[in-house]
Amino acid sequence: MRTPLIAGNWKMNKTASEAATFARELVQRTITSPAIEIVIAPPFTALDSVRHALGTSSSIGLAGQNLHWEDRGAYTGEVSAPMLKDLGCQYVILGHSERRALFGERDDVIQKKLAAAFRHGLKPILCVGESLGEREAGRTTEIIAGQLKGSLAGFTATQLAMLTIAYEPVWAIGTGKAASPEQAISVHQTIRQFLQREWSAALAQGTRILYGGSVTPQNASSFLASDEIDGALVGGACLQTESFASIADLAQKRTGH
Ligand code: PGA
Repeated sequence: MRTPLIAGNWKMNKTASEAATFARELVQRTITSPAIEIVIAPPFTALDSVRHALGTSSSIGLAGQNLHWEDRGAYTGEVSAPMLKDLGCQYVILGHSERRALFGERDDVIQKKLAAAFRHGLKPILCVGESLGEREAGRTTEIIAGQLKGSLAGFTATQLAMLTIAYEPVWAIGTGKAASPEQAISVHQTIRQFLQREWSAALAQGTRILYGGSVTPQNASSFLASDEIDGALVGGACLQTESFASIADLAQKRTGH
């Protein structure tokens, strides 16, 4: 049984003080249980204040939104895996489509970032997804398989046991036009088939695959109703306490707790 994960990608939103206020509200509002995992990914500058605001008793986890593949050195403006670990992150989002499109991140670079995450015990949430043009040209499977092949090259099943994948169709991100659950399920199945073919059935069955792209409290249940969809990576709707917490509530309900 895969534990559902609801992750909030804050992107470049909230100052450290706004983030602390938000985190305190979230702790009060969310009923956490071991049945699901809730993770938030504030900007680097807010990780420390969020960690303190969450306190030691909260089970809400922390994620970085990116990292550099080296541990340290002359990389102005970058942040490494040990730095994220030291601030209490358990997770890191890698390969988000905004990083790919706006910052030129390619699969070989994402592979090096994944290696850094594995090396330091940070659990990566790897984002994959096709553009509208690619979907309309019938290339969705080929694009997803190419992203997985390039970014997961050379890793063992033991390393990949730490991995969560987020299927985020580019055309659904921030557009208010979510994929249908059927579209998401079909790509999730493609991802599992890929993992089974390249590694093992155990890895394919054990890997969490989230859906991301215009997830809201209104549409979240339709995704979470499927056994193929192990949670959500939420952007816009994670910036208000009530909408993010109610998506987490829906995930909790699905587990029957
Ligand atoms: P969205 O973003 O929920 O605003 O579409 C999702 C994401 O980019 O992870």
